[in-house]
Amino acid sequence: MWDFFQTVRHRHSIRRYQTDMPVEPEKLHAILETAVTAPSAGDLQSYRIICVKQPALREELAQAAYGQQFIAEAPVCLVFCSDPERAATAYGDRGRTLFSIQDATIVAAYAQLAVVAAGLGSTWVGRFDELAVAQRLGLEGALRPLALLCIGYPAELPESSHRRRLDEVVTYR
Ligand SMILES: Cc1cc2nc3c(=O)[nH]c(=O)nc-3n(C[C@H](O)[C@H](O)[C@H](O)COP(=O)(O)O)c2cc1C
Repeated sequence: MWDFFQTVRHRHSIRRYQTDMPVEPEKLHAILETAVTAPSAGDLQSYRIICVKQPALREELAQAAYGQQFIAEAPVCLVFCSDPERAATAYGDRGRTLFSIQDATIVAAYAQLAVVAAGLGSTWVGRFDELAVAQRLGLEGALRPLALLCIGYPAELPESSHRRRLDEVVTYR
């Protein structure tokens, strides 16, 4: 069992998946239960998570993401959507334009780490046509898809990617 710091360091974007190995429902449930422990503005959880398993729909998501085919290969795709109107009920415009986006992003980040802890891999996908994704998923109201998280058993072991030095990204005052 990895500790938290090892888990974080073992997360790499996975773009090749074992297509014959589905994600066990209990693992998926544990990932989602862990993700929703994330903090949210006013504890409102101003997001919706769409869990896509249907192969035809995953293929459509891959097309909406400009042909990023690994989205169709991974057995599960979680679509994290902000719910601006829910956040607006408590926080007005700041909730609508900022908190709902932060809520949905934080819950997705928690999910991505829970995926590693569950022995699976993922890639966060942000390059997609929002309107096409919203239409294909039949998203109601103002729900805005912000991130796709493809999940499955890895069929590759990527090298660690480069990071900027801490003194380039951290300022002490
Ligand atoms: C906001 C955001 C958008 C991203 N969009 C894509 C994407 O559309 N396609 C993709 O293959 N990877 C995407 N990534 C993954 C990054 O390319 C990846 O996290 C980065 O290169 C660092 O590699 P690592 O995740 O292995 O540490 C995205 C990551 C983030 C946070």
